[in-house]
Amino acid sequence: MSTFQIIVGSMLGGTEYVAEACEEQLNILDHQVNLHLKPDFTSILKNTFAQNTTKKQVWLICTSTHGAGDFPDNIQAFVTDLKNCEQDLSSVSFMIIAIGDSSYDTFCKAGVELDKTLKTKGCKELIAINMLDMSEDIDPELLAQNWLKQNIDLL
Ligand SMILES: Cc1cc2nc3c(=O)[nH]c(=O)nc-3n(C[C@H](O)[C@H](O)[C@H](O)COP(=O)(O)O)c2cc1C
Repeated sequence: MSTFQIIVGSMLGGTEYVAEACEEQLNILDHQVNLHLKPDFTSILKNTFAQNTTKKQVWLICTSTHGAGDFPDNIQAFVTDLKNCEQDLSSVSFMIIAIGDSSYDTFCKAGVELDKTLKTKGCKELIAINMLDMSEDIDPELLAQNWLKQNIDLL
């Protein structure tokens, strides 16, 4: 059993539904989950490191991309604080669900940038980034839940 911090970037609310579907699936798989719809870097760090536990600590980032490849407003401060963080984050594992629209040149750019940033901070990527294309007729909540189930051994 791992402890997950689900960190959400969303402008219009669609990605929040995906994050809530992930929370539901992870609970079914018997993981502990904290959902951050307004991610605050300091409290996420506190949740990650304050626990006196040997459980694996995982950050699941669920973010859309807006503007011309920009981060949603609600996750911008988290990204800035992460970039400025000098603490050792090498014990943090992460995985990313990036939501976007492939008609944009900047398809899923926010998720891709966070992937790079987390790697430069020494965090360990558990599963390769999952990019969901909303220009296709998809059910992103179901796809996200199936992705978690398919990778159950890595969580
Ligand atoms: C104004 C606007 C700009 C967007 N820019 C991008 C973009 O640069 N890259 C991309 O992949 N998707 C882009 N999208 C698509 C959104 O990421 C997609 O609609 C997503 O489902 C929105 O998620 P949210 O409801 O959580 O904000 C844009 C959508 C809008 C409305």
